[in-house]
Amino acid sequence: MRIDRKRLERSMDDLGRIGETPRGGLTRLALTDDDRRGRDWMVAHMREAGLRVTVDQMGNIFGERAGAEALPPVLMGSHVDSVPTGGKYDGQLGVLCGLETIRALNDHRIRTRRPVTLVIFTNEEGARFQPAMIASGVMAGKIALEDAYNTRDADGIRLADELERIGYLGSEPCVARPFRAYLELHIEQGPILEEEGLSVGVVEGIVAISWSRLTIHGVQDHAGPTPMRIRHDALVAAAQVVTGVRRIAHEIGGDLVTTVGRLTVSPNIVNAIPGKVALSIDMRDPKNETLDRALPLVDRVVRDACEREGVRYELEHYWRVPFTPFAPDVVGAVERAAKASGVRYRRILSGAGHDAQYMAAIGPAGMIFVPSRGGRSHCEEEFTPMDDIENGANTLLLTALELAEQA
Ligand code: HGY
Ligand code: MN
Ligand code: MN
Repeated sequence: MRIDRKRLERSMDDLGRIGETPRGGLTRLALTDDDRRGRDWMVAHMREAGLRVTVDQMGNIFGERAGAEALPPVLMGSHVDSVPTGGKYDGQLGVLCGLETIRALNDHRIRTRRPVTLVIFTNEEGARFQPAMIASGVMAGKIALEDAYNTRDADGIRLADELERIGYLGSEPCVARPFRAYLELHIEQGPILEEEGLSVGVVEGIVAISWSRLTIHGVQDHAGPTPMRIRHDALVAAAQVVTGVRRIAHEIGGDLVTTVGRLTVSPNIVNAIPGKVALSIDMRDPKNETLDRALPLVDRVVRDACEREGVRYELEHYWRVPFTPFAPDVVGAVERAAKASGVRYRRILSGAGHDAQYMAAIGPAGMIFVPSRGGRSHCEEEFTPMDDIENGANTLLLTALELAEQA
């Protein structure tokens, strides 16, 4: 039994047009009108595939294919929100391969003992609302619903108000429910599968992640008449933090990665000394204890940079997800399906966070990776060849079928 490659390709093209950028990428930020259009597209096609569609308090969308028995379901999920000028594969591919899996079960009139349910998580990217994976985090009980509702984007708009505005503020409680397995097909977003000429990654776990936010308060002043000796320049301090955060990755070495991805300067004009700078710090490593070592080094880098420049700061380490190993029985099922699909695969670790990370905290989870060309992602160049997508989708189909058990 195999998926219908042409149908999957058509769905990718159709959904990929919603929020498409002129350079062929995707900007479909969580809870924007484009996200609503993407969600509406998915709901229509989930209903067309005979799924019972429900929406929960965090706007997560569920499409259930009934099983012969009311047992804990096999879930297949991912997300349809993207980063700005991102790619058409991150998240979207997992949701569409899940839909295609269900369509293939329908085509072959397969009855499964367990229900098979497609899940679309809200705001996985954390691009508009922080932190990332906020909706699976609420479901896993790691983030309070009220905190998620009250988180605001850069324009001060509340998440809950946006959910309501786009018509996806559901009534179903966003809580953990038993499931047999949660499966997520996703692009690798790194170079390993492509470098080794492999089509599928059997994902064994996801790295630990830490996000911090830093605000530096200097003294805004005129760029001309203000002598250097009396300046307190927030951006000079921030610049030392940026290079200091990179240095921590080199000092600790191993698999630690550190990134300052967002930096906003005010008043951000040519002829004023920056009075305020806000920046983000993202750190990841397969070992929790490496992040435990790195965080105090970040504190010291920030303190020294701000003392040197005579500026004040607020530093908040506000999000932490531990290293997450996936359930051995689910990883085993994915590996058996990869073998049965006849694809070239290897076991691999995820350097990117996914909703599977929070789902693994409440039940057995696993992931299937497909290659990223040049290892690129979170950019318009993101691309995965259709042969690999077909191999990944067939692996998902066989994994779901094994775990949902034919009736
Ligand atoms: O941050 C991540 O790793 C994911 O793309 N949200
Ligand atoms: Mn993703
Ligand atoms: Mn992403």
